[in-house]
Amino acid sequence: MTHYVLLAPAANRVYAGEALGLAAAELKLCHPGADVVPVALAGVDYLKVDAPGGLDAEVVAGQSAALALFEAVESSGAGETTGDLLRPVPLPVTDWLDDDLVTIPKYPGKTNEQFTRLLTNVTLAAVRREPGPREVLDPMAGRGTTMMTAWLLGHDGFGVEADPKAVEAMAAYLKTWLRRKRLKHTADTTPVRREGCAIGKRFDATLRLPERRELTMGVFTGDARDSAQLWGKRKFDAVVTDAPYGVVHGAAAHGARAGGSRDRSPAALLREALPVWAVQLRPGGAMGLSWNTHGLTREDLAAIMVEAGLEVQDDGPWLQFSHRVDSSIQRDLMVGVKPV
Ligand SMILES: C[S@@+](CC[C@H](N)C(=O)[O-])C[C@H]1O[C@@H](n2cnc3c(N)ncnc32)[C@H](O)[C@@H]1O
Repeated sequence: MTHYVLLAPAANRVYAGEALGLAAAELKLCHPGADVVPVALAGVDYLKVDAPGGLDAEVVAGQSAALALFEAVESSGAGETTGDLLRPVPLPVTDWLDDDLVTIPKYPGKTNEQFTRLLTNVTLAAVRREPGPREVLDPMAGRGTTMMTAWLLGHDGFGVEADPKAVEAMAAYLKTWLRRKRLKHTADTTPVRREGCAIGKRFDATLRLPERRELTMGVFTGDARDSAQLWGKRKFDAVVTDAPYGVVHGAAAHGARAGGSRDRSPAALLREALPVWAVQLRPGGAMGLSWNTHGLTREDLAAIMVEAGLEVQDDGPWLQFSHRVDSSIQRDLMVGVKPV
């Protein structure tokens, strides 16, 4: 049976008219075997989906831009076929939390929550491990859009962020949100010491929803290149991060390390940091990065991933995510998998 997915209108504001192509690529990766084609019906864009083994509505519901689902019903009247009609199919509620968790915060440098969800979805789709809850690390976590998206999807979110003010703001926001929603939680900021000296802070939170496993979140203030030191032996199923674009959004566009490394380009930062994050992945884990191709070519980033021992996903839908954000940012994403 053929289905049609209607996209949320906001998606086009994020991707400057390229939303349909991105959503098609996302769905192909998240629903293997499905044939997904952008079409227009009566002047409205849809994704036309044919899934040989049947469509999994839960997968559609989890997509970053899905608004509504329809199935095509052939209608006939007076002995002649009059064409397809669209019958609405209810989308199951798959999110664990209300999505205003990620839509309320607005701040310069925020990664759009819809794009964060797309990046998280395709990265998790590439993970080659037993199904189950995932531990997702964002080593440049900002105010936590990725970690909160992980929670929405029922996974645990961890991070490192250079700007202590961003971590403070995120902690304050999350606490207020959890209290306002009357959800059972813990949330604490604690100092981090090494050899007796304070080297930063960490924020930890847990959330207990009725009849669900407990969700965990944790973020260190610090440099993304020190992520393995900060997180110690802990390993993750996925690394998901939106790299700095090399354009200034706020005070802390670059690294936090002392010693004048703030002027490093995003490309130099990724060269140093990516091998560290690769070590933090479990076998079969996946790393999904988005970046500005004006500062680093796809080929160069792929070479860094390969050097770090990852298998770059570089065929079919994986090559269909490049899109314009503004005149100085052409954003793309790349996913690499750590061999089992
Ligand atoms: C493009 S933003 C990502 C924002 C995040 N996804 C969000 O929505 O809040 C990049 C973030 O990386 C942080 N950052 C840049 N260089 C870093 C470094 N070397 N170590 C840790 N964080 C860094 C910046 O402070 C900024 O918050």
